[in-house]
Amino acid sequence: MKKTWKVAVIGCGFFSRVQYFPYIRKEANADIVAVVDPVEESAKKACQDFNVPEYYTNVDDLIEKCDFDIAIDAAIIQEHHNINMKLLKAGKHLISQKTAAPTVEMLTEQIEMAKKMNVKFVCVPIHPMRYDINTAKQWIANGAIGNAYYIKCNMSHGGPEYFQYRNADPTWFFEEGAGALIDMGVHGLQIVTSIFGPAKKVGCMAKVTCPTRMVRSGSYDGKIIKTDKIPDQYIITLDFGDNKMAVVDTGFSIKATKAPLMEIFGDRGTISFTEPYMSNPIPELFVDDPEKGIRGWMQPKKGVKPPKKLTSQCCCLADLVQAIENDTEPVLSAEHARHVLEIMCKIPEAIESGKTLDLETTF
Ligand SMILES: NC(=O)c1ccc[n+]([C@@H]2O[C@H](COP(=O)([O-])OP(=O)(O)OC[C@H]3O[C@@H](n4cnc5c(N)ncnc54)[C@H](O)[C@@H]3O)[C@@H](O)[C@H]2O)c1
Repeated sequence: MKKTWKVAVIGCGFFSRVQYFPYIRKEANADIVAVVDPVEESAKKACQDFNVPEYYTNVDDLIEKCDFDIAIDAAIIQEHHNINMKLLKAGKHLISQKTAAPTVEMLTEQIEMAKKMNVKFVCVPIHPMRYDINTAKQWIANGAIGNAYYIKCNMSHGGPEYFQYRNADPTWFFEEGAGALIDMGVHGLQIVTSIFGPAKKVGCMAKVTCPTRMVRSGSYDGKIIKTDKIPDQYIITLDFGDNKMAVVDTGFSIKATKAPLMEIFGDRGTISFTEPYMSNPIPELFVDDPEKGIRGWMQPKKGVKPPKKLTSQCCCLADLVQAIENDTEPVLSAEHARHVLEIMCKIPEAIESGKTLDLETTF
């Protein structure tokens, strides 16, 4: 009989409640056996709402008292490294929410601990599992847009205080260790490096656009927070070598936009991402093929559908379980996360110096 994997979730906030608790039992042969949150009420409520038998108020107690195989760390960003190291040292397979560590060295420590303890380690976001991204990669490999040389990625929203409904105070998103780059930039950087591979150089410009903000949703609706410590809007430029480059526009200061989420340009066409990615869209394709006398936007063949739909961001659990059961590497690799982290760690220096800086890591 197939094993049922016992999962513990650390952090019972907005993301766990919307994307993990309702899907853990659906995404893999898995059960949620425990949750952790220092706010006891949040942990208790998660147990009640999602039928979880045990809760703890810290990870040490979870490790000591609970029988589980897999942990999902969805606590606040500033706690990820500490929590991840404890779980990996305890020999647990791990999914870390972004961003897994504040420095490249610390993430390397986590990667090495996972290897030493012979456990699988997944780092989200989940973009490399997306149907539209993989379709675009296949089109590029097949030459559909000729030589693909430029990506424009729009990865901004209006801020975690603006629209995401949470019971917790969102102030931590604007404090040291978090911020728009670490929270949102990580998405755009993971996406463009999924498509063009590791980048070679990074440059950046960034500003504090809104030094104070009013919380506009959730339990803290109306609270004024000071948000002047870290830039909240970034324009990141990446050089991938040869003739390849990308711009990632990312941050918390774009309340609404009609711009595509991303466009990839080549000498024979364009791939455009206009639909929300969790709807598993087929990207739009423009082809300019002088030999065939074709120039225009293509229509997908009738009936073409994603072979396997992503239904939630908990698809990372399916990735992890598959890696454990087949002893393979997960799609959402920690080495890729480390490359993205190196880019983010070099960005403050790139802003300060006004220079484009070399990148060393790869995946
Ligand atoms: N689309 C996405 O990929 C996406 C979107 C939102 C958030 N996130 C990520 O999810 C994580 C949580 O964000 P959120 O939006 O749920 O925030 P949140 O503030 O709603 O929830 C965070 C929870 O973590 C708890 N917590 C704090 N310290 C902890 C500790 N030491 N141990 C256990 N729990 C602790 C808090 O009490 C709170 O309940 C972050 O890593 C964030 O980057 C990802």
